[in-house]
Amino acid sequence: MRFSLITFSSAALIGLLTHSALAAPVSSLVLTPGGYHASNKVHPVPTGGRVSHVGSDIHVLDTSDNLVYIATPTTTVATPEQTGSVTDAHWLNTGSIPIYFFLNTWNVPPVPATWHGQTIFLFNAIALSTFEASLQTVLQYGGSAAGGGEYWAVATWYLYGSEAFYTTPVEVTPGQSLATSIELIEVNGTVYDYLAAFDVAGTELGVNGGEQLTLTTKTLESYGVTEASDYPTGETEFSINILLYNNDFAPVSWSVVDDPADGLSTTVNTNSGDGGVITITY
Ligand SMILES: *[C@@H]1O[C@H](CO)[C@@H](O)[C@H](O)[C@H]1NC(C)=O
Repeated sequence: MRFSLITFSSAALIGLLTHSALAAPVSSLVLTPGGYHASNKVHPVPTGGRVSHVGSDIHVLDTSDNLVYIATPTTTVATPEQTGSVTDAHWLNTGSIPIYFFLNTWNVPPVPATWHGQTIFLFNAIALSTFEASLQTVLQYGGSAAGGGEYWAVATWYLYGSEAFYTTPVEVTPGQSLATSIELIEVNGTVYDYLAAFDVAGTELGVNGGEQLTLTTKTLESYGVTEASDYPTGETEFSINILLYNNDFAPVSWSVVDDPADGLSTTVNTNSGDGGVITITY
């Protein structure tokens, strides 16, 4: 059962906090679309800025390329259980040609009927197959490390090992049409540069010098949900195009993971890289 899992996770997290308090200064845990992270591992990226892999560090740069922060990732990765993933569709590109564009359009769902401090993330991501790195365009209801509250907001996130980077959330309204693009902008040997954004000002996030990202996902995650009405009602339909770096449409074949206990499901309506359709039903 989903709800008892959340209770168990909270207890485990409190245990973790208590334990680390004995050894090191307490760093509180904050919520990201990749699960709970130590607050000092979650970093805002200035509007128009980007992150850049430099050796084993990740530099946060502002819009004028000034260095604002150096993060040193460790390989600690949240397991799928810890991420709170509820329902998803995923496709792994096993071909030799990288993904060029992962494009999605959908509408902001209605606001949930009840508010219990829950957080809902609805995102499109391109990730390493190990999930150790993930670039995501995230629609969020409720709070996270990036902010937010009793409203829908959009932000772009990059998760890498222990670190998380985000753009400032921008409020959006129910019914608003959203388009997202995750684009491979340059390849140099084994080094990949990506750019991800919504069609909403202030959500653009570049990632330079990273690894090739091969796993596409569309995911609904929730935290702190106590009853069904904490979710929106109805369904969210995504229209999807995935292009490969040679401009061919990708040979997409989506797999889905449902959460019947919560009445949440993902349906592949059109299994294609050219005008694909996937529906998440609440
Ligand atoms: C590609 O990578 C090589 C080796 O790191 C570097 O010398 C070269 O300048 C890079 N090329 C471009 C176009 O960035």
